[in-house]
Amino acid sequence: MKILITAGPTREFLDPVRFLSNRSTGKMGFAVATAAAEAGHSVTLVAGPVQLDTPNGVRRLDVVSALEMLDTVQRELPAHDALVMTAAVADWRPKRTAAEKLKKRDMSAVLELEPNPDILKTLLPQKGDRIFVGFAAETGDPLAEASRKLAAKGLDLMVANDVSRPDAGFEVDTNLVTLLMPDNSPVPLPLLNKLEVGRIIVDWLERKKGRTDKA
Ligand code: CTP
Repeated sequence: MKILITAGPTREFLDPVRFLSNRSTGKMGFAVATAAAEAGHSVTLVAGPVQLDTPNGVRRLDVVSALEMLDTVQRELPAHDALVMTAAVADWRPKRTAAEKLKKRDMSAVLELEPNPDILKTLLPQKGDRIFVGFAAETGDPLAEASRKLAAKGLDLMVANDVSRPDAGFEVDTNLVTLLMPDNSPVPLPLLNKLEVGRIIVDWLERKKGRTDKA
């Protein structure tokens, strides 16, 4: 199978030295890429700015901003059977990016932002029989929020992740996730290493692709 995976945060620059971003380290996406390559799949990994080595056998494309990530994913999607969006895409970008470092005296207390496109929603018309997987890092009520996004983004699988726990989510090596699918009951997984979560997602993709090919 040809699998396109996104990972890490995006950076949205205000000027050459300042940006808006988030706590994503890219570990979950790199783990899915590692598991997919180990299972013999052809993997393209679109990575935001992260401090991680490229997994063996993986083709890596580095991007910085959400718009660059969208461009790259849009260009690569036609050659792939599945898209796994683990990236924590910044929802907003500064309205203007200054070419020179901004001076305190030129900055206002109000930062003007504009929305970034939703990559999954933008690509939904090009989905065809491709498999789309999303990740939802939530606090509060992870399952309710993730179910809403599963439907809104037209996904085959949403991996809901409770990041309010210290042993799940950002920066750590373990995750506590629940798999949500449009026509099945939620499947809660125990606390697992991110690589183990990656392997479960790859198994799920293989089974889903098998069913799609037969249908
Ligand atoms: N995502 C995307 N494009 C964006 C934002 C998010 O494709 N601009 C993808 C993420 O990669 C992830 C899924 O959508 O797979 C859910 O991301 P999340 O940030 O939880 O969703 P949002 O739609 O940004 O939801 P909200 O800000 O309302 O929580």
